[in-house]
Amino acid sequence: MFHDPKHHIKIYQGDCLEILAAIPENCVDMIFADPPNFLSNGGITCHAGKMVSVNKGQWDRSQGPDANHEFNRQWLAACQRVLKPNGTIWVSGTSHVIHSVGFAMQQLGMKLLNDISWVKPNPPPNLSCRYFTHATETIIWAAKNSRSKHTFNYDLMREMAGGKQMKSIWQIAAPERAEKRLGKHPTQKPLALLERIVLAASNPCDLVLDPFAGSGTTAIVALRIGRAALGIEFNFDFAWLGVRRLLDELVAVGFHAAGYAPSLDAVLPFMDRSDPQGFSHRMAPHTKLVQRECRFYFIGTARREVIYSVEALSLEEAWQAFQQSSKSSESVFTVIKTETEIYLAR
Ligand SMILES: C[S@@+](CC[C@H](N)C(=O)[O-])C[C@H]1O[C@@H](n2cnc3c(N)ncnc32)[C@H](O)[C@@H]1O
Repeated sequence: MFHDPKHHIKIYQGDCLEILAAIPENCVDMIFADPPNFLSNGGITCHAGKMVSVNKGQWDRSQGPDANHEFNRQWLAACQRVLKPNGTIWVSGTSHVIHSVGFAMQQLGMKLLNDISWVKPNPPPNLSCRYFTHATETIIWAAKNSRSKHTFNYDLMREMAGGKQMKSIWQIAAPERAEKRLGKHPTQKPLALLERIVLAASNPCDLVLDPFAGSGTTAIVALRIGRAALGIEFNFDFAWLGVRRLLDELVAVGFHAAGYAPSLDAVLPFMDRSDPQGFSHRMAPHTKLVQRECRFYFIGTARREVIYSVEALSLEEAWQAFQQSSKSSESVFTVIKTETEIYLAR
């Protein structure tokens, strides 16, 4: 559905069991999986202060404990096959699914490395008042098998923990409003959570895979921190949301305006004091300039408003155009130059 060959980012729309079967074995460095929690079964929860039924979609319905566990075994086995010998997998889930995931990992001979408690500082209240408020999700981190020599960027994690060993309790807020700007996924993970995971267990240019990609969070983090990524999502709308979020990351638009103080330019000719390099030298190297517009606005002395504007390459050219215009009899208070440059990822 999406392929960015420059950054090695791919999104496939389809069933992860089918697509994983088509990927060669031993080629993925790290996997993050956020599988269905099997909790959309008519229960209630609190959303935006209102009581609502838990219905995230058909994909989240329980098929019964045995069928759910069999599904977990199948996709975990498929992930284990594509992992490199030293590769690791992270799986996030609520209590509805995570015990089955942990058991299936043991059945498959994976090596359990850690279980992280992801603590949500502002969880929705428990409306029934018969349970504690659910405020955590567990993330199990496991290596392909007992022989794996897994990657752990210990020093970086220690630095991120303020110079102390990082603990397995991570307090990270739910996705920020800006992360849902392009559309909503009911179980979208925060970018900050994925960033920590990918930084902890992979190196630049490693291949990161997400078999339940949802809104593309893992691929976006991979793009941002220089990892290759492969996301699989069977729901078209969610996959398309992921593509939109990726495209949004790849486009950078900048504005640069330069104004001229009349006290400095009281005597003609006015001077162009804008940066001769434009702002191309400040843009990321993988971006390409696709559109540039340089426009000059003439501000009147009697009327403090734009009396004339023209697109031109230089101040001299703009003056010539102004002098040939019907406005040339009006006196000019100042000239403002604006430069718009649009950069796109190559
Ligand atoms: C818990 S959500 C993942 C959310 C994701 N982590 C994010 O940040 O947006 C699980 C996703 O898996 C997808 N899904 C469920 N079964 C699948 C399957 N067999 N193959 C591929 N995707 C599947 C669902 O459509 C859903 O979007």
